[in-house]
Order: sequence, then structure tokens, then C-alpha cells
Amino acid sequence: MIRLCLLALSVALCLTGCMSGTIEPSVVMTGVAMVPTAIARIATPTALHASTEQMEQGLRVYRAQYCGVCHQLSVAETAGQFGPSHDGMAWTAQTRLLNPAYTGNASTPDEYLRESILTPEAYIVDGYALSSHPMPSYAHLSPKEIDVLVYLLAHQR
Ligand code: HEC
Repeated sequence: MIRLCLLALSVALCLTGCMSGTIEPSVVMTGVAMVPTAIARIATPTALHASTEQMEQGLRVYRAQYCGVCHQLSVAETAGQFGPSHDGMAWTAQTRLLNPAYTGNASTPDEYLRESILTPEAYIVDGYALSSHPMPSYAHLSPKEIDVLVYLLAHQR
């Protein structure tokens, strides 16, 4: 009986979702919690769509701000050498946090990326302290621009 109800619920959710074309993330999240397998089928394309969009927006900001003058990032087709490479940045961020010499306040990779962009002086990567092209702060960007930059870099594996 419970199964039947869940099935009916998922069909109803699917119908509303599929017909309207947009599913609010909150609805999907609630759905995922209630009926994992049924909802997963409709949640996946939505989630993918959202992440591709964030990635593209991140790339747009990355290019518009010329991050690539100093950083290498293959998906953005940049090859800057004044700063550390952004390829594999998801792993690099974790490595920085585990480094006993880390002086910043972040405790997750996302926080580390945000801190690096907003207050780069909180921690200078080894070997760059005397750089003639130091990392500038991008605190003047909008919160949304910072979010998509962090998203982009946090997904470089
Ligand atoms: C003028 C050169 C320059 C520009 C432009 C620049 N950076 Fe940097 N960046 C650096 C240098 C040098 C470092 C290493 C020193 C440090 O940690 O501050 C760095 C470090 C970083 C780090 C930490 C990397 C690591 O390996 O831990 C991140 C993240 C970062 N930059 C993001 C960005 C983003 C995003 C942009 C564009 C919005 C940008 N940078 C633009 C020079 C630059």
C-alpha cells in the first residue's frame, strides 16, 4: 500500500514536473527524500542542467576577469603561469587545507576557494610569496559571480 502511494506520488510529481518543464529545486529535494528511486529519474536531468549552467557561468566570469592571464585552466583554454594551475583544483584545495603550513580560516575546499578569491593574503601558496604578479582580491565581484567561480574551480578534478 505504501509502495502504491509512493508510486502515485512520484507519477504526480513527474507529471507536474514534466508538463511545466521546470521543477523547483526544493520540490526535487523533498521528492528525493521521499521517493529516492522514482524521483532520481527526473531529478538527474534537472540537476545536470543546473550544474552545466553554473559551470558555463563560472567560465564566463573566469574569462571576463582574465583569471587565465595568471592561471592555467584547460576547460577555459588558458595557460597562465604566474599563479598555480587551476587544473585539478578540487584536489589541490584539499591538499592546501591538510598542509600544516596553511594559515587561512577555511575548513572546506569551497571555503578555501572563496577565501583565495576574496582574501588571497590569508594564505599564500608556497613559492609565490615574492611573486611579481600576486593574486589580486576579487571582493568587488557580486556574490553570484563569486559563487559560480567557486563552483567552477571546485569541480576541476
Ligand atoms: C595577476 C595574476 C593573477 C590573476 C589575474 C589571478 N590570480 Fe589567482 N593567484 C595568483 C597567484 C600568484 C596565486 C598564488 C599566491 C596566492 O596563494 O595568493 C594565486 C592563487 C589563486 C588561488 C589558490 C590556488 C591554489 O593552488 O591554492 C585561487 C583559487 C585563485 N588564485 C583564483 C583566481 C581567480 C578565480 C582569478 C580570477 C577571478 C584569479 N585567481 C586571478 C595570481 C593571479
